[in-house]
Amino acid sequence: MKHDSFSIFGHKMAAHSGIVELMDDLGKAMAGHEEMLMLGGGNPAGIPQMQAIWRQDMAALLEDQKRFDRVLCHYDIPQGSPRFLEAVAALFREEYGWDIGPQNVAVTNSSQNAYFMLLNMLAGERADGSHGKILLPVTPEYIGYADQGLSEDMFVACKPLISEIGDHQFKYHVDFDNLVLGDDIAAVCVSRPTNPTGNVLTDDEVRRLAALTKERGIPLLIDNAYGAPFPSIIFGDAEPHWDEHVILTLSLSKLGLPGTRTGIVIASEAIIAAVASANAIISLASGTIGQALVVGHMESGRILQFSREIVRPFYEARLHRALDFVEASFDQHLPWRLHRCEGALFLWLWCRDMPIDSRTFYERLKARGVLVVPGRYFFYGLDEPWPHQDQCIRINYSQPETTVREGLRIIGEEMQKAYSSRSM
Ligand SMILES: Cc1ncc(COP(=O)(O)O)c(C=O)c1O
Repeated sequence: MKHDSFSIFGHKMAAHSGIVELMDDLGKAMAGHEEMLMLGGGNPAGIPQMQAIWRQDMAALLEDQKRFDRVLCHYDIPQGSPRFLEAVAALFREEYGWDIGPQNVAVTNSSQNAYFMLLNMLAGERADGSHGKILLPVTPEYIGYADQGLSEDMFVACKPLISEIGDHQFKYHVDFDNLVLGDDIAAVCVSRPTNPTGNVLTDDEVRRLAALTKERGIPLLIDNAYGAPFPSIIFGDAEPHWDEHVILTLSLSKLGLPGTRTGIVIASEAIIAAVASANAIISLASGTIGQALVVGHMESGRILQFSREIVRPFYEARLHRALDFVEASFDQHLPWRLHRCEGALFLWLWCRDMPIDSRTFYERLKARGVLVVPGRYFFYGLDEPWPHQDQCIRINYSQPETTVREGLRIIGEEMQKAYSSRSM
């Protein structure tokens, strides 16, 4: 079928936008080259202890014929399985004292899917003809939101403040002095921990964002795909935050279940009712397998133990090992910096004043068999160019040791070559 007959929506979905092209490129590179060192994707690591738990749970489900039929042979209600909704609400009530019940929880077919519904329900064309936007208080932000808006110019992004730490670290902060919540801002959205940077907004930053959005009467979306209390890929102290106007999303993916496509939304009753309704329109209902595998662990609280005692230590160990490789293979005299990794799966490398941009750096690394993600794609929504956006790359540190060591060694070499061409 020719694309001429597509609607605006059709064109948008079929378009070879930056990220689609890039994912395609990564896929092709992987298919053609078995030796490729894959530091590009966002796939969680296979954690043997967690994989054993999920296999055991799946075997138990298969054994229990009645439960198996109940889980697989019916559509769920659009909001999610009642037992799972209650288990999520109880976990957050007990863990954080939040005043929530099952009416404050919805399950979606992945948190990616939840964002498609939420971002478009909150922003875009309004009945009065005005156009609502999503404000990202810190750019760079998760690439997966970038192309989800059904209307144009859905995002407004703010440059962060940058604090430089020691010789080779840095951290982004919200620049509250320049954060303007104009009438066109329909909601504010942050991932915490942030993909791609590993930043975790401080509790104080979150409280201030929550206060500002509350005052304006708009929602604050907090994407907790990596955060506490599960999967807890977060390495410092940071409290989850909730209030009537906060929309907190979680996911089972980084617990090691990305294939179940299970997202969780915690929000006011009105938002949950709207999400359930949108879910019915788009999907009829959400998948049940992820909920069925996890619900018992949610009720017993074991999910917290898995997260704190298996998942977090696994990623923390891989992070430290990757940082050792960086130290061993990056020239300490060059002006590179890594964002302080406070959570998530990534090292965010800033090559200040490098004579080539991050796309060229990505191409050179690909030619050497190393796949990373050029930073440019994470800086959508800015109203003016910012040199920083072409100086960063995202590196997944959670892959097996030999892959990460060799990948970082080659990144160090290519970085050195690129910088030395500056002095020629
Ligand atoms: C910040 C963030 N949000 C949401 C998602 C989507 O997760 P899923 O759709 O697997 O629940 C991801 C995936 O990597 C992510 O990094």
